[in-house]
Amino acid sequence: MIVIRDGRDKKNISEAAQALRKGDLVAFATETVYGVGALISNAEALKKIFEIKGRPQTDPLIVHISSREELVELVKGIPPVAEILMKNFWPGSLTLIFNKKDSVSDLITSGLKTVAVRMPSHPVARDLLKEVAEPIAAPSANKFQSISPTSAAAVESELGDGILILDGGASDIGMESTVVSVTDEPTVLRLGAVTLEQLTESLEDLPKVTREIGHETTAQVAPGLLAFHYAPKTKLRFLDGIDQLNEVKDLERIGSYLLVFSNRERDLAIKKNFGRVKVLSTNGDLKEAAKNFYSALREIDQMKPQQILAIKVPDKGLGKAINDRLRKAAH
Ligand code: TXA
Ligand code: MG
Repeated sequence: MIVIRDGRDKKNISEAAQALRKGDLVAFATETVYGVGALISNAEALKKIFEIKGRPQTDPLIVHISSREELVELVKGIPPVAEILMKNFWPGSLTLIFNKKDSVSDLITSGLKTVAVRMPSHPVARDLLKEVAEPIAAPSANKFQSISPTSAAAVESELGDGILILDGGASDIGMESTVVSVTDEPTVLRLGAVTLEQLTESLEDLPKVTREIGHETTAQVAPGLLAFHYAPKTKLRFLDGIDQLNEVKDLERIGSYLLVFSNRERDLAIKKNFGRVKVLSTNGDLKEAAKNFYSALREIDQMKPQQILAIKVPDKGLGKAINDRLRKAAH
């Protein structure tokens, strides 16, 4: 059964809203990546999110909202710094961590006293949220530790065809939201679509960035920080620069598929006898590279090369988030 529906059609929005009210999961487009969600009031549906993703319950979910009133219902207070960030980045690709009200289910927060909230800007996500008139808890619509989906087809290949998918085209940003805790001094828990440079401008200061915390068994401060994450099935090696290709043995070159930033790196790689090269942005634009990043990884993975050699992209702006994902995809 094909269940991909055009999310810009109001009829499909109301069908999806009905499915959510019934306790079914719905996948939907957002400007960052596609999410798979349940109404926050439905414990059974929330449990299904963890089942369909194969995700441990220790990994908390982001609550998506469409109004300030919904935020007020979820959190214990809105600190001044949050007001500034909300004014500058909402609706949009910034997730904020607040102290939660007791009414917010432990299923969403993995028992933490805090809750992650985001107000997306994508019209499909917004229309759906407005139609259900309730927040939707939704992680990215991929299997646990796999590549985030940036198209309806990618969601289908991750989660199968049992759920309704609201198509909103290719995700504009293509990188998950940036997660910032505002329970204390603002701290970046996950690099993402909103850059450190943008945050610094808003906060008039460099925000703190949590160091990677690695694997833990109890609820994570931010499981986006897990050392292994966002990974293709194919073995991936993350190289610090194009020069490192010199160290790759001849035989290995044949089985390798390269993922590089721009045509400049591609040309250099071809000179070094690498035959298969995927370029993230022909003329080296980080926004375009981020938008193409997950679909490029997915495409290479489907071709099943012996290994993926990914070369570090410029380490600024969205490039920092791309490099973070590549580091975590390496195995
Ligand atoms: O762009 C996005 O954020 C997408 C779209 C669908 O909104 N969602 C997404 O969700 O990437 P997910 O579940 O794949 O990642 C959620 C991140 C994880 O790193 C999780 O640990 C963190 O948010 N998170 C959720 N609740 C948290 C909390 N209470 N404290 C700290 N981190 C939290
Ligand atoms: Mg995810």
